[in-house]
Amino acid sequence: MTDTHLETAVAQVNAAIAAKRQPVVRTFFDEATFTATHVVHDPETKHAAVIDSVLDFDQPSGRTTHDSADAVIAYVRAEGLTVDWLLETHAHADHLSDAPYIQQELGGTLVIGSEIRTVQDVFAKVFNEPESFVHDGSQFDRLMHDGERFSLGGIDAVALHVPGHTPACLAYVIGDAVFVGDTLFMPDYGTARADFPGGDARTLFRSIRRLMQLPDATRVFLCHDYKAPGRDDYVWETTIGAEKSGNVHVHDGVTEDEFVAMREARDATLGMPRLILPSIQVNIRAGHFPEPEANGVSYLKLPLNLL
Ligand SMILES: [Fe+2]
Repeated sequence: MTDTHLETAVAQVNAAIAAKRQPVVRTFFDEATFTATHVVHDPETKHAAVIDSVLDFDQPSGRTTHDSADAVIAYVRAEGLTVDWLLETHAHADHLSDAPYIQQELGGTLVIGSEIRTVQDVFAKVFNEPESFVHDGSQFDRLMHDGERFSLGGIDAVALHVPGHTPACLAYVIGDAVFVGDTLFMPDYGTARADFPGGDARTLFRSIRRLMQLPDATRVFLCHDYKAPGRDDYVWETTIGAEKSGNVHVHDGVTEDEFVAMREARDATLGMPRLILPSIQVNIRAGHFPEPEANGVSYLKLPLNLL
């Protein structure tokens, strides 16, 4: 079966490399949540995207601050960039998105995968969300589907649907770079878990193998790094070639059944992410807090004995 959307992405990467029209990527790493926020821009037109921003959250006090986002905003202003896009690779379970604050300061269209509606359905049940919480993705400005094309100034881009970690995961291929969200991690660390509600290890394997059909020289930017055993530094950039030859979970030659057995066994040993309950409630609202109660304060819920 031909995969025309993948072919579009392959052609785009090859054209970007041949024309030397490659986006500049500056990454801001949040050690509290091990999250990499990428600012991607076209050096000729200075049009930019901010991918997977972080709202700083102190769980004991329930207090939020914008230190991480302010560093991104300062960089964007210093470089004279125009932010066209605020791209979310998925509804994160380990950090809160700060896209609304960055949008307020810098503008841009807030995007997530169209399957976010499925994620909203699942978690609206978990959190017994009120009827005022709609499940149609309308909290975001634009929902992208597999193969949807967009641009960053003069650089072509295309979204690829890569479900498995969550049903709504998108990878954004921008010029010769792919922002893979939580599908692949660094080759020495492996892959993301697939045991959240709506996740599936077999689906994740197929999404990863699809990404691995991009050219070997494709630059790969990750959403997270946790330092692999024996490595002292955080790293968030690799290549498709390096993932294919060296990813400890899913290098060339690993079969689907082998991957699924490994992934499911490993996931069974993992506890829930520290910030999953607050993160999901905010991120399915595109980074907004739940409606304030009569006293003007927004509250987050803790479902007991459910997850
Ligand atoms: Fe994630």
